[in-house]
Amino acid sequence: MKADLIVGIQWGDEGKGKIVDLLAQKYDCVARYQGGHNAGHTIVVDGKTHALHLIPSGILNPKATNIIGNGVVVSPAALIKEMKQFDNLLGRLFVSESAHMILTFHTLIDQAKEKLRGDKAIGTTGRGIGPAYSEKIARQGFRLGELRDVDTLTARVMEYFAQNKAIFEALEITLPSREELNAELSEFSQKLVPFLTNTTQMAWKLMDDEKKILLEGAQGTLLDIDHGTYPYVTSSSTISAGACTGLGVNPKDIGKITGIVKAYCTRVGNGPFPTEEHGDTGERIRKAGHEFGTTTGRPRRCGWFDAVACRHASRINGCDELSIMKLDVLDGFEEILVCVAYEINGEQIDYMPLDLDNVKPVYKIFEGWDKTEGVRHFEDLPQTAQTYLRALEEMTQTKIGIISTSPDRNDTILL
Ligand code: IMP
Repeated sequence: MKADLIVGIQWGDEGKGKIVDLLAQKYDCVARYQGGHNAGHTIVVDGKTHALHLIPSGILNPKATNIIGNGVVVSPAALIKEMKQFDNLLGRLFVSESAHMILTFHTLIDQAKEKLRGDKAIGTTGRGIGPAYSEKIARQGFRLGELRDVDTLTARVMEYFAQNKAIFEALEITLPSREELNAELSEFSQKLVPFLTNTTQMAWKLMDDEKKILLEGAQGTLLDIDHGTYPYVTSSSTISAGACTGLGVNPKDIGKITGIVKAYCTRVGNGPFPTEEHGDTGERIRKAGHEFGTTTGRPRRCGWFDAVACRHASRINGCDELSIMKLDVLDGFEEILVCVAYEINGEQIDYMPLDLDNVKPVYKIFEGWDKTEGVRHFEDLPQTAQTYLRALEEMTQTKIGIISTSPDRNDTILL
């Protein structure tokens, strides 16, 4: 059976957590394929709040198995901490033995480099994501499977420290002693080795056995290393194709692809954001949508829906449908704007150019509505909200499958 996929269509934080949680009930397995603990969402089940950064959302479905694929960069310390929220994870959580590790020094490099960049900082989450992926590509990374032989791994990391001594000194990073490193890696080994496996083989077997897999993307398309607003991006392939390299499924193994998108836009960190609203409108969206980062607590930058970027993202991911999240956040606005084209050097274009820095949004204005919060049927939405949604479908050339009208699992319209 083919695996279905959920992918963020904007700059992350689209509300994937709610949809994955909703859908996870129907899947036998949920798999992450990229990113690391830079991602994050909280899910409330039976009054208990769970903070998930690395562990797939399927963990809240007792019947589902969960995979952290080879394309994820795993901080053993962060994973161990997150695992403490749950009992009996053995047999429910499987972690790729070939996923690369984020060790403390990767995190310190991330933070030190951000400081050096000054006003050109990317605004990373400071979790060591970039340095861990850089070293993976440079063939100097450390894989989780190496935790099976801690002494050999310790020697390899010490050798890496020696080879890169000048860099660590320049960045004023204090490195652990051999003993400290060995002790830390031993703890990681003891806690994580029982969960390591060949997750590609596992995914193939599940699909061969007609089990349903949900591939859970992290971050969003506009943060993709190749297709996002480079260099203000994350270091992984956040688009649907990332699932192929990040889990080992092939393109033909992927079935339905759902793009998750908010009814407006947000972005954390630096980089271009054509529809950003700096004044009262941005503040009002931020307040109504509680737009503060779950991983770093940073206030998110807010603005109007960008149909040009969304159409681009939908095509790149091959979206079969969109889930429109947080429609209720726009309740009460008299007018709602949607970016339908960009203006660049006095010319209008309807596609995403290489550089979004100098584009001005061209807006279409829609009439607002009073209230959509808690609505559960499309016909019960105010007429103006229905018009807005139908227009989004047309502008993004993608049909809408799900509309979310509050954080509650039940306040969801299925079309
Ligand atoms: P990094 O992934 O920590 O290297 O950060 C690179 C960029 O991606 C920064 O702009 C971050 O704010 C952004 N980013 C990383 N993870 C997320 C996420 O889960 N949601 C939204 N933005 C993210």
